[in-house]
Amino acid sequence: MNIKEIVDAVQAFVINSNHDLEQFRIQFLGSKGQIKELYGALKNVPNEDKRLVGQQINELRQIAEDKYALHKTTLSHATAETVELDLSRTGADAQIGSHHPLSLVRKEIIEIFNRIGYVVSEGPEIEDDWHNFSALNFPPEHPARDMQDTFFVEKGEQEMALRTHTSSVQVRVMENSKPPIRTISPGRVYRNEAISARAHCFFHQIEGLYIDKNVSFADLKQTLLFFAKELFGEKATIRLRPSYFPFTEPSAEVDVSCTLCHGKGCNVCKYSGWLEILGCGMVDPNVLDACGIDSTIYSGFAFGMGVERIAQLKYRVTDLRLYSENDIRFLKQFTPGI
Ligand code: PHE
Repeated sequence: MNIKEIVDAVQAFVINSNHDLEQFRIQFLGSKGQIKELYGALKNVPNEDKRLVGQQINELRQIAEDKYALHKTTLSHATAETVELDLSRTGADAQIGSHHPLSLVRKEIIEIFNRIGYVVSEGPEIEDDWHNFSALNFPPEHPARDMQDTFFVEKGEQEMALRTHTSSVQVRVMENSKPPIRTISPGRVYRNEAISARAHCFFHQIEGLYIDKNVSFADLKQTLLFFAKELFGEKATIRLRPSYFPFTEPSAEVDVSCTLCHGKGCNVCKYSGWLEILGCGMVDPNVLDACGIDSTIYSGFAFGMGVERIAQLKYRVTDLRLYSENDIRFLKQFTPGI
């Protein structure tokens, strides 16, 4: 038989099953197969042609062996899969994720302020001195800068800061828009603090800013009372304590009535009946002027809160580190994200 014909037969042979594969092996590669026969017939080939014919038979054997090996592996995979494929089985359990508690709280706070006309504004986490400090009435070298331990980073020639609060975003909003302004700025902020259950080197804030003609401290208080009731329930009340921030005057710290004991006193509020939730005040006229807003015409208020702090009160999380450790046992306790 002619070698070319056998090559064609090898290539045309259809292998769809283990049975076909075995037939193929017997016909071409077996001890009584056609290729063996060809090697046997080689002794009848004239000496001068032996080398060439021998080579052709070797090539043919190679083609047949390659085809055999290829089908053997594909068939073995197919068999393994067929055994596993049971179309009547129910699907594997889908793991449903959950929203991160900080995302839930941030969303809730944003929605409350959206309802009274505040829009969200965002800005860079790496800030220059002007937006994080100077425009906010922190004079150079002023000790108030130490209220917020800052991480400094180099950006080319310039020394930049990882923003210590999202008040920097509000400076950008004031520089770029005209009153009336009603905005909230959610975002991550950084402070150079040792990590413990009660402090972290980064956390999240939402700061608010309202600027218009004739804005008074009463507007600020009423806005925050509305916020506290929306977030913690109708029974919630607030109290303001005098405080200091360079960018607001007067300034206050705001407490909400304890969400657990409603003011009676318990271990969450350390028997005071109150929980501190945010800082606020009337925007200092120096800040308005530095940002291009005429402080003889306009006034406004600002407030800022830590999202972790609010989440802690809502969900009774006592260790700040849990928020960033991605421990699934912690995360899966919060409402599934649908
Ligand atoms: N920026 C302040 C802080 O990070 C919070 C604040 C904002 C206080 C606005 C008053 C007014 O601590």
